[in-house]
Amino acid sequence: MENKQAPVITIDGPAGSGKGTIATLLAQHLGWQLLDSGAIYRVAAQAALEAGIPLEDATALVELIQSLEMHFADGKVWRNGQEVSLAIRTPETADATSRISALPAVRIALMDRQRAFRQLPGLVADGRDMGTVIFPDAKLKVFLTASPEIRAERRHKQLSEQGIYASITALIGEIKERDERDSNRSIAPLRPAADALMIDSSQLNPEQVLHLILQNQ
Ligand code: DC
Repeated sequence: MENKQAPVITIDGPAGSGKGTIATLLAQHLGWQLLDSGAIYRVAAQAALEAGIPLEDATALVELIQSLEMHFADGKVWRNGQEVSLAIRTPETADATSRISALPAVRIALMDRQRAFRQLPGLVADGRDMGTVIFPDAKLKVFLTASPEIRAERRHKQLSEQGIYASITALIGEIKERDERDSNRSIAPLRPAADALMIDSSQLNPEQVLHLILQNQ
């Protein structure tokens, strides 16, 4: 159950903007809970793939989501007692996640699960619609961006570390295409809240971004 007494800071923005890093640093600094909402969508998608549920079958997906047990601790993720930390990060799961997250019924079915992370002493919530839909009463809403070129470079570095080669030009193209789709979807589009603090992290390191957030909280 959500504890409305607990303060919330939301960090929304596109993939590669550095949200995950900043949210983790901020939660550690404040000693608050951390919600990686993308991981929740990813667990649901990975479970659907494993169960062979068609990714457009909203009714079956909602039924599956209601039966899921998820657990997050020490940077690891468990589903129904099984560790799925790596399985939720594969390109196949990422693709399935982007499809199921466009279904209104799926987003509604995952709302309470996300809000349950709001506990004392406070919550840092990372996602796409944290400040606009899930925690509209957050005390601080950050919208983190970076240029497609910088985000592609960060993604390239991440992939190389996993031994995967990808061309920067292709990555820039993919990122622009995904931004277009995410920003124009009819439900919970990627969009800053009207009262969001906008931070462009293109020329900033994580400590500088953290400093800006702490100055405004
Ligand atoms: O942040 P991420 O890369 O783990 O997100 C995975 C996918 O889930 C991505 O396609 C966007 C979607 N997502 C969403 O629609 N809403 C959120 N609050 C978080 C993620």
